[in-house]
Amino acid sequence: MKDSGKIDPRNKLNALSGKEWIRFTKSWFIADGRPSDISHEIDLHPASFPPSMIEEFIEFFTKPGEIVLDPFLGTGSTLVACENTARKGIGIELYPKYFKTAKSRTKFPVLEGDVRILLPTLEKQSFSLCITSPPYWRILKKKKDYNQQERLEKGLDLQYGQNPLDLGMIEEKEEFLNELVDIFTKIHELLLPQAHLIVFIQNVRDKGEMIPLAFELPLRLTKWYSFLGERIWLQNQKNLRPYGYPYSFVSNIHHHYALILKKRK
Ligand SMILES: C[S@@+](CC[C@H](N)C(=O)[O-])C[C@H]1O[C@@H](n2cnc3c(N)ncnc32)[C@H](O)[C@@H]1O
Repeated sequence: MKDSGKIDPRNKLNALSGKEWIRFTKSWFIADGRPSDISHEIDLHPASFPPSMIEEFIEFFTKPGEIVLDPFLGTGSTLVACENTARKGIGIELYPKYFKTAKSRTKFPVLEGDVRILLPTLEKQSFSLCITSPPYWRILKKKKDYNQQERLEKGLDLQYGQNPLDLGMIEEKEEFLNELVDIFTKIHELLLPQAHLIVFIQNVRDKGEMIPLAFELPLRLTKWYSFLGERIWLQNQKNLRPYGYPYSFVSNIHHHYALILKKRK
């Protein structure tokens, strides 16, 4: 992302030149796959994201030295991205296996346990950015599809696990969204004034209908955050599967939403 342009003295948000700033504001980007040399420990996790993708967000929404929070840390990609961009970070992960992977990838603090218990132990008004990807409701619990079959054959996890504290185990959509709203409300207290919250999420298919989680979540957070918009993460190299063919339209969902929210006072 770097170029050698000047930083505008009025820019209090980040350390980017004008060109770099404007480049990031495009409402979509393509980021494909995980690196081919990815370790088994990282690959084991069914939904890790590439650190380089997160680096661009961190570079836009913070300055070097500032502190970033990821409350659904998984394998620790966000903290790797913090190290690569000279920021600091803290993460929380429920499952010991992913916690261990995250610990082995970073020198920053990683807390093991339920986000709802651990968030109140963190210092108020200390984070410049929260960037995270929660479970996409219970989509990983659904029946096996083509991609899952491949993972099964390789002995990789299809679900995070069976812990009832896992937000991906919640059956009812309302309960899932209420829990997420509660968590992001707690995070509001931990963020510095004007800090940003970035949530990666998808609209998901459930019993033949789309459930627009990515549209519902910002609406439910408006009391605490202003919604600044989304950047759509396109995955251009995923295989197309014949879902629905030849009876009905069923999309190959090859995009995620990075919802960009800003703390209200
Ligand atoms: C979409 S994944 C995050 C993946 C991560 N971005 C990465 O690159 O590895 C969501 C994570 O949230 C964790 N999780 C689910 N419920 C949780 C809870 N109650 N407290 C803490 N972590 C939880 C899951 O174990 C999973 O690793």
